[in-house]
Amino acid sequence: MRHEVIEKNMGLMIVLIVVAISFGALVEIIPLFFMKQTTQPVENLKPLTALELEGRDIYQREGCLSCHSQMIRPFRAETERYGPYSVAGESVYDHPFLWGSKRTGPDLARVGQRYSDEWHRAHLYNPRDVVPESNMPGFPWLFENTIDGNETQNKMIALRLVGVPYTDEQITTAKAEVRGTREVDALVAYLQQLGTVIER
Ligand code: HEC
Repeated sequence: MRHEVIEKNMGLMIVLIVVAISFGALVEIIPLFFMKQTTQPVENLKPLTALELEGRDIYQREGCLSCHSQMIRPFRAETERYGPYSVAGESVYDHPFLWGSKRTGPDLARVGQRYSDEWHRAHLYNPRDVVPESNMPGFPWLFENTIDGNETQNKMIALRLVGVPYTDEQITTAKAEVRGTREVDALVAYLQQLGTVIER
């Protein structure tokens, strides 16, 4: 019984388990890097503007991800509620991606243009003013904080390094574009473009 040798030898067992799992993982993961469908941007996809990019960072800082996913799964119950399911090509400029999986609140992958800017501001200030039964927290400080833009250009340069096609001009004007803007306006700009590149 050759198998018994493995079962009685912890070290060998661990090594073989690691080999088996690594092989399985590589077979699943490596082809994804070469599939056009997962690496090519969908048609008309543009990098976020400087303001939207700052909004995205506020979204991460405030932990919106802990209650909201940005990933509509290809099931009828999801597409009826949220719109067309998410495709990989929509996220190729997202670093890191914010798909998430926790849904205390609704998915936000296609929330862009569903409400007015006005609605979003009221909702972010105190969600219960517009959705009485909401248990989402308010974010009133976003209305007081402004963005200084000191890091905006560096963020764009870093993103360009990993393949986001920012032009030199976009980077040069970035700081002036965002400087002095209230954080809430950057966040709303970010929310309003979510999922809008695919026709609905
Ligand atoms: C503690 C969990 C929680 C956190 C954190 C949270 N939300 Fe929510 N959010 C909810 C819930 C629950 C709802 C549904 C009720 C409502 O509309 O207020 C919701 C609704 C929304 C909606 C409306 C979606 C729709 O389709 O109607 C938007 C937009 C939204 N949240 C944005 C945000 C943003 C931006 C942040 C971070 C600044 C955030 N949320 C943080 C729980 C949360």
